[in-house]
Amino acid sequence: MRSMPASSLPKPPVRQRFRRTLLTWYRANGRDLPWRRTADPYHILVSEVMLQQTQVDRVLPKYHEWLERYPSLEALATADEGDVTSTWRPLGYNIRPRRLHAIARESVERYGGELPSDEATLLSFKGIGAYTAGAIRSFAFGQRAAILDTNVARVLFRVFVGRGDPKAHAMRKQLWALSEALVPHKHVFDFNQGLMDFGATVCVARKPKCTACPMTRMCRSFSKLSPGRES
Ligand code: ADE
Repeated sequence: MRSMPASSLPKPPVRQRFRRTLLTWYRANGRDLPWRRTADPYHILVSEVMLQQTQVDRVLPKYHEWLERYPSLEALATADEGDVTSTWRPLGYNIRPRRLHAIARESVERYGGELPSDEATLLSFKGIGAYTAGAIRSFAFGQRAAILDTNVARVLFRVFVGRGDPKAHAMRKQLWALSEALVPHKHVFDFNQGLMDFGATVCVARKPKCTACPMTRMCRSFSKLSPGRES
């Protein structure tokens, strides 16, 4: 459903250049985060659910504490609900631990204690939306799956679109199509993590760091963003 006229997607050489530039940037500048040193589906799930509404710095200690307390889907599935909610504290949005708990139980009951890897089954869990499904598929299972969160949407909008309303529904579809077109066959893990880091540290919402950006030559927004705004 996320179609977009093929003609408005970047041509293969441009995709290639974007991929290479991003991967090179990520390998030199990406943050060393614990969920980047694992492909364990459960660990990836926990990190992505925590990161849905919480900053990296606040997630880090809780991620370690959580995995020590509930080292597997089985351990989480059999834990007491009250215990699970209080372990989550002080991260807010208490629906998230309950949903993680429910995902763990369902994985044990229906999928032999493993997190499924296919898109439709992942999307059938409450708490796993299109972004989280793409993150799990690409980070844990190495599938060529796209992601789109706020940071990634901003990067793709600026580099490849540059005009229109970045928040409009039709734009969202276009940005998903772009993310799907750009995701490489190899190095999916680094590419998707790189997209997120690039949006979180260079192509930031306010005062983007255009003077430190390796994409300026292919960026449709560079002249509008004006590097003079960088702090
Ligand atoms: N935000 C959401 N997912 C993330 C990840 N894997 N790394 C850093 N920030 C994120």
